Amino acid sequence: MTCNKNPEKITEMFDEISSYYDKMNNLISLGTHLIIKKTAIKNLKIRPNSYILDLCCGTGDFTKIIANIEPSSKIIGLDASENMIKTAKQKNPKKIFIQGDCTRLIFKENEFDYITIGFGLRNIEDRQKAISEIYRTLKPNGKFLHLDFGNHTISGKLFNFLVLAIINCFGIIFNLNKDSYKYLIQSKNEYPEPEKLIKEFENYGFKLIKRKDFFFGAISFQILQK
Ligand SMILES: C[S@@+](CC[C@H](N)C(=O)[O-])C[C@H]1O[C@@H](n2cnc3c(N)ncnc32)[C@H](O)[C@@H]1O
Repeated sequence: MTCNKNPEKITEMFDEISSYYDKMNNLISLGTHLIIKKTAIKNLKIRPNSYILDLCCGTGDFTKIIANIEPSSKIIGLDASENMIKTAKQKNPKKIFIQGDCTRLIFKENEFDYITIGFGLRNIEDRQKAISEIYRTLKPNGKFLHLDFGNHTISGKLFNFLVLAIINCFGIIFNLNKDSYKYLIQSKNEYPEPEKLIKEFENYGFKLIKRKDFFFGAISFQILQK
């Protein structure tokens, strides 16, 4: 059975887990997710005074990292979940966050210098629509950063085992929604590997300029140019 990515269900799930999302990310990744996010953003080589859209911004990690790396940039974080945005605002009180849907962006054509999406595209039912919206709203020569799980490697299987062990150990303490972490494993296993995703991006006109893998390919980012 394939994952149910009905947008209302997905938003409800992230609304529900928002209070412990950051804690669980730290536990599951053993603290490495922030290092990977920083590395990915540094590789964008953001120019001063850039206009940046962070899609599926969640609790605002990307916004915080971008603001530290290039304080002159103007960043907008967009997410479907009201509760994830509340946490993002607490972590980034001076930044702009809006509730919205990646597949129906309210922005004009050719607006952003950079668009980022971290661990987000995997959750979107109509991925093609989201990619076309990213292409539409990015400026010519603008850069798109996609970060998510990568190849379905042995290290990826170890990760599944780790997540299951953690939800079984901490499930009761944190009163976790265990189904959401089972969804994480299933959505990760079903998500296309980077080679296939890059082809999808290229079909819209993007050109791959950088790819970097972590944990023997289990996590990967790609930077593409419009
Ligand atoms: C796994 S979290 C990633 C959050 C953050 N980027 C990070 O790396 O920690 C996925 C986020 O995507 C958001 N999301 C899912 N579908 C969406 C959609 N169609 N439009 C906007 N946001 C969406 C969820 O609400 C959730 O906050």
